[in-house]
Amino acid sequence: MRLGPLQLESNLFLSPLAGYTNLPFRLVVREIGGVGLCTTDLVNARSLLEKRAKAFKLVETRPADSPLAVQLFGSVPEEMRDAALVVEARGAAAIDINMGCPVRKVCNVGGGSAMMTALDQTAALVKGMVAAVKIPVTAKMRLGWDDDNLTAPDLARALEDVGVAAIFVHGRTREQGFGGTVNLAGIRQVVAAVKTLPVIGNGDVVTPQAARKMLDETGCAGVSIGRGAFYDPWIFKRTAEFVRTGDLPPEPSFSERVRVLGRHFDLMMEVFGEELGCRMFRKIAPWYAKRFGPCHEFNKHVVHVTTREQFQVVLENYLGWRRQFLDEHGELLPRFQPAPLVASFMRESSAPPLPHIPVPKGPVEVW
Ligand SMILES: Cc1cc2nc3c(=O)[nH]c(=O)nc-3n(C[C@H](O)[C@H](O)[C@H](O)COP(=O)(O)O)c2cc1C
Repeated sequence: MRLGPLQLESNLFLSPLAGYTNLPFRLVVREIGGVGLCTTDLVNARSLLEKRAKAFKLVETRPADSPLAVQLFGSVPEEMRDAALVVEARGAAAIDINMGCPVRKVCNVGGGSAMMTALDQTAALVKGMVAAVKIPVTAKMRLGWDDDNLTAPDLARALEDVGVAAIFVHGRTREQGFGGTVNLAGIRQVVAAVKTLPVIGNGDVVTPQAARKMLDETGCAGVSIGRGAFYDPWIFKRTAEFVRTGDLPPEPSFSERVRVLGRHFDLMMEVFGEELGCRMFRKIAPWYAKRFGPCHEFNKHVVHVTTREQFQVVLENYLGWRRQFLDEHGELLPRFQPAPLVASFMRESSAPPLPHIPVPKGPVEVW
């Protein structure tokens, strides 16, 4: 898979999840493998130009975190162009433009999904960015504002004409939020609308089989995974192998899940320091635990962790407590296995909806 001049290891992408796709998480996903390109959380173009510490923390990276796209949002063409130059100078491999954010605060100033309602203006803004930088510029959008305004095919065509390197399409409308079903036919219409531009499908891919279905039914060039990566950081590795060989690799073992949980924790300490890192990790650890089987004893204590040491104690105690649910070989008894995740577009009516990842308030209050 190529993105303009950039050769990627796979056609699988990590979608931006504000508050979650920070440097430690990206490193975790990359160390496991299978991902072609990761993207930062959305970054306010103006905040970057004003050199705000929070904006610079969001674009913090290191050599192992490569290739990396920085996602910008904003609606003032000069600010977006200048922010693109800042991002390029800091070594990003690509720039992604947020055109899908449904949050009122972003749309009210003409950013996020409001960009999908003003095609000429948006194309002009993007043209200015493409002309200013040498690295590829991509755009991330929803299918449109609502079902009566499915503007993604027209917008994709307009952006292809001004030189974007790829389009990411979340197969829902702004009005849908995260409800209902991802519309694969809608993504296919975007693929059909462009000439040679790679269209990357996105939405609800939580298993390798769902990624395969999205590729097959939409004709998209790649798949971008957000929440699915947070539920399961192994999804890229397993999907890459499944798509390549047709054989579904086994799920990671419990000890591998615990190892990666610990690695993620260590990286959070390195990047955010012990106090903030522990506080942030309290909302991350329970996501790993969802695949552990019985986990309330872990969740109850991990949400109070304030030091590295406490984290180790909580983990050790949990490992002891969990033994009661194991068979003589140390495997979880079948009745305690967690329920499998199912994408909206692969779902039988009885399947449970995907677990909700809360949109963070505070530093990234726009998502
Ligand atoms: C908590 C959260 C934060 C998000 N932050 C961003 C963001 O910063 N930029 C963006 O373009 N999309 C953002 N999204 C949308 C995702 O990138 C993605 O398009 C959407 O979640 C559907 O894909 P998924 O089902 O694979 O998660 C966010 C979604 C969630 C749930």
